[in-house]
Amino acid sequence: MKKRYLFILVTVLAVTACSSFRSGPKTEPAAEITTMAAFHAEMSGCQTCHADGSKVTVSDSENHENEQCVSCHGGYEKMANAALEFDPHTSHLGDINCTTCHKGHDAPQFYCNNCHSFNIEAMPFADVPKKAAWDRDWNQEAIQKAIAAGPVEKTDVVVVGAGSTGFNAALTAERKGAKIILFEKAPFTGGNSMLAAGGINAVGTPQQAKKGIKDSVDWFVEDTMKGGRYKNDEKLVRIMAEESADAVKWLESLGVNLDGLKRSGGARVQRTHAPANGASAGPQIIQTLRKVAKREHLDTRLNSRVEKLVLNDNREVVGVVVHGKHSGYYMVAADAVVLATGGYGMNKEMIAWYRPTFAKMTSSNNITATGDGIIMAKEIGASMTDIDWVQAHPTVGKDSRILISETVRGVGAIMVNTDGKRFVNELTTRDRASDAILKQKEGYAWLVFDEQLIAKKKMVRGYEHLGMLKKADTVEGLAKMTGMSALPETIKAYNAYQSTGKDLAFGRSDMPLNLTKPPFYAVRVAPGIHHTMGGVAIDPDSEVLDLQSWPIPGLYAAGEVTGGVHGFNRLGGNAIADTVVFGRRAGAHAAEYALKK
Ligand code: FUM
Repeated sequence: MKKRYLFILVTVLAVTACSSFRSGPKTEPAAEITTMAAFHAEMSGCQTCHADGSKVTVSDSENHENEQCVSCHGGYEKMANAALEFDPHTSHLGDINCTTCHKGHDAPQFYCNNCHSFNIEAMPFADVPKKAAWDRDWNQEAIQKAIAAGPVEKTDVVVVGAGSTGFNAALTAERKGAKIILFEKAPFTGGNSMLAAGGINAVGTPQQAKKGIKDSVDWFVEDTMKGGRYKNDEKLVRIMAEESADAVKWLESLGVNLDGLKRSGGARVQRTHAPANGASAGPQIIQTLRKVAKREHLDTRLNSRVEKLVLNDNREVVGVVVHGKHSGYYMVAADAVVLATGGYGMNKEMIAWYRPTFAKMTSSNNITATGDGIIMAKEIGASMTDIDWVQAHPTVGKDSRILISETVRGVGAIMVNTDGKRFVNELTTRDRASDAILKQKEGYAWLVFDEQLIAKKKMVRGYEHLGMLKKADTVEGLAKMTGMSALPETIKAYNAYQSTGKDLAFGRSDMPLNLTKPPFYAVRVAPGIHHTMGGVAIDPDSEVLDLQSWPIPGLYAAGEVTGGVHGFNRLGGNAIADTVVFGRRAGAHAAEYALKK
């Protein structure tokens, strides 16, 4: 049976079974039915999906509708369908809402195709693959109308953006006793953090002690400053290093496993903490934060884009204008606002303006990373730090948007050019590795590894599933398959360096694995936009600064929307550290400020 029909049959059976517990007429779906809404209405009326079919009001988050999907069809994991070649229900995004992709009244949104190019036919009522357009213009007239109408509700703290920074800010502010609303413009939470592969850098953790790793706050600071070409704000870097162990402890207290320890580029020791099973860190962290937020009834509103910071006559931030998917434009009054909106790696116009040489580069970022917080903060006179510094990650899958984590090199992969020759220390900083790749004759490279590495890094199975890996039983076979004629020689030399611990070719100090166990694998990689180091200027309390470096009262920011922590080049594992340390600081200071008002 064709996969498409199998899927629809399963859906029909599940819905029919479920509808027998509901009131309303049951009829066979008519042949001409073309939308999910019509299909469900045929069976049980609008209340199959909506709370009250006679008077349908849908919240922006579509919580009720999503709960209805799950109540009939089962959760995300239950929907996993082994018969499909690529099953979105088993993706790394975790438990995202059904209505992200399945639309009641419109063509479905193949959300995953914003990053991938799957030829997915199996979606009920599939029409054309549609891509979300987040960098569209904002409606200034509607914004001004909402401000003129005045606030429709009031809270202590608004947090804008529900990635790791936003969740950490909101949960911390709530623990301080503040009333919070967390707004997220996407149909699900997670932001860029959800895609983070590597982990969180921290010093002085029990994990480091267990492995006998000697490290110090000073070393963490020095590595970060050196990686950032000494352009970082050292005060902020020191805070990140000092509070990093506590950040790991906090995530663990919420339920995240961070028992795996690896070395990322530019770090002198292993300080990147990630799940022990070699899985990607971001999805685990976000999935846990989602669960905690749900358990604690954090007021989280999806499909709700904040488009304006509202000031009073004293130039204090007193609220925001939100654009809700169903509710339209409205103003919320707040005593403090935390910007946790991430960077601008997916805003083509901003990239072209600030970093024109990267204008045509692919990006590993979530499509929502469009610099909203930077735009809004600039509008009210915030100062920017290093705004034009954009990081290219050296190993994004060539012609894709899939990041091949730096920790794959950290665990043992080597990087070679199209002839099969090494050309750089694989664990140098990202800017240097990216430059070195772009200087190769084809402008791309290969990562090469063996079965030992796959056993240590679960995430590599994901790349295999996506069809990104070349695989052969011998090094010679892999060389032939990929045209890398010098590969056998290169691997022989590398294995010799690895056995003595001295890389005579490029001075790589950490060579945890040799390449001896078949099968052997290779994946093509090229630099892609990964992180925007610059952004809103903040002080150590995460207060946003104006052009004279005075705090803008009531406005806080943390994470990738800010500049200063990473200088000109961020080290792997420092983004999540930044989001947790400064997310928590921003939440705590915003709550204290709001509660004093
Ligand atoms: O390559 C990586 O795993 C990326 C990590 C990071 O950007 O921190």
